[in-house]
Amino acid sequence: MPAPVPAPAVGSHAVLLTAADDFDGWREAARQAVMAGIPPERIVWTEPDQAPDLFAAPGRGLPVSPNDASRPYVPRAFLDLARMAALHADPQRFAVLYRLLWRFQRSPGLLEDAADPEVRRLHALARAVRRDIHKMRAFVRFRAVTDADGERYVAWFEPGHHILRANAAFFVNRFTAMRWSILTPSGALHWDGACLCEGPPAARGDAPAGDDMEALWRRYYASIFNPARLKVDAMLREMPRKYWRNLPEAALIPALVAGAQAREAAMVDRGKALFDEERPRSLDAIVAQGQTCRRCPIGCNGTRAVAGEGPVGASLMIVGEQPGDVEEQMGRPFVGPAGRLLRAALAEVGIDAGRAYVTNAVKHFKFVPRGKRRLHQSPNAGEIDTCRWWVESERLLVRPRLVLALGASAARAMLGKTVSVQKVRGEPMALDDGSELWITTHPSYLLRLQDEGRALEEERFAADLRKAD
Ligand code: URA
Repeated sequence: MPAPVPAPAVGSHAVLLTAADDFDGWREAARQAVMAGIPPERIVWTEPDQAPDLFAAPGRGLPVSPNDASRPYVPRAFLDLARMAALHADPQRFAVLYRLLWRFQRSPGLLEDAADPEVRRLHALARAVRRDIHKMRAFVRFRAVTDADGERYVAWFEPGHHILRANAAFFVNRFTAMRWSILTPSGALHWDGACLCEGPPAARGDAPAGDDMEALWRRYYASIFNPARLKVDAMLREMPRKYWRNLPEAALIPALVAGAQAREAAMVDRGKALFDEERPRSLDAIVAQGQTCRRCPIGCNGTRAVAGEGPVGASLMIVGEQPGDVEEQMGRPFVGPAGRLLRAALAEVGIDAGRAYVTNAVKHFKFVPRGKRRLHQSPNAGEIDTCRWWVESERLLVRPRLVLALGASAARAMLGKTVSVQKVRGEPMALDDGSELWITTHPSYLLRLQDEGRALEEERFAADLRKAD
């Protein structure tokens, strides 16, 4: 229930906007109001269904500005943010925008102040609207109906903010060849293949509840559902429950989620049984067999396995965490930014990286998709322990005199237990075959540091490498 908008006090000005998303109306009135010197506390912004005052009317209530009044200063970035924020359901949004516009006249750099509460509120409003626009694009589901003119597709959607008109062009461009209607509690859009028109608010019952396409849609969803990739929190962030009612595939989610853990456990059990298999007899066999490894959920994610690289008999084996985005694409370990840092540090202390065997604790890339990017995710203890079989197989073949483990995942892979890297770094540990294990920090950690902090840690890293050499 939106908070009621207070009636204007005596001496105040009421501006009635023509619609809840009337950004242009607000902009014009706000410009006039600033030019006429009306402070924010003396202006009440009202939407049509809130008008508490009989005298409030579009274009009324604002005095004419003096002839010599200069045009208000409006930062370009503010206009873009304000256009979004104006679509928010918050009844105070237009007042917030006007207060900012008013303050820009005295503080032109205000928008740069990320700590200012009103600037932060502006960003939060715009962000929420952007998200709602995106959700509508993702979650509108059309159902086919037949009317006098033939087939038509109708969808019911409940936006959180006043985004219906702002999204119209998207749906027209996306579904130009279809006849469709999108019904919402605050209005409707109808497209007949040539013209777009608006309709009055609708009710859920005005839209069809299901059609033949839904069975197809559900079958498709069930077939692409990968239990190994299930992250309930991430799924709820992307597809909040409030949209489920209108999504045919959502009916499947509880059952698929409930079955996912069991399916994943069965998959991992099947994989573990494979550990009884004979170990690969060559590094080439490791490269080849690793591609089909499905012993853990990361192995099931469809990425390329990246095995180690270097000569049999190398006296130094370097173990990282897992291939990153670049490594997965190139199929080689440590060829991305962390690899460059590592190789430069090795060169600096006189270690020839080309003579070392370089590998990772985990052979597949674990990530979460974010738009077009794949964001690195650390492997968990179970995944590292499962992949140990491969690193052990590599170590048995290479037989290094010295193993250098970079970071906590690599240390766990070598020791079979978690240790604190900061506590054990820089001291040798004996491995079961008599070789020496040295543990130090991971180069990606250094990449995340800045300035002196980074310089200091790079020094410590180089000192650890020197000791291990
Ligand atoms: N980080 C790692 O741990 N290994 C790589 O191969 C690349 C980045």
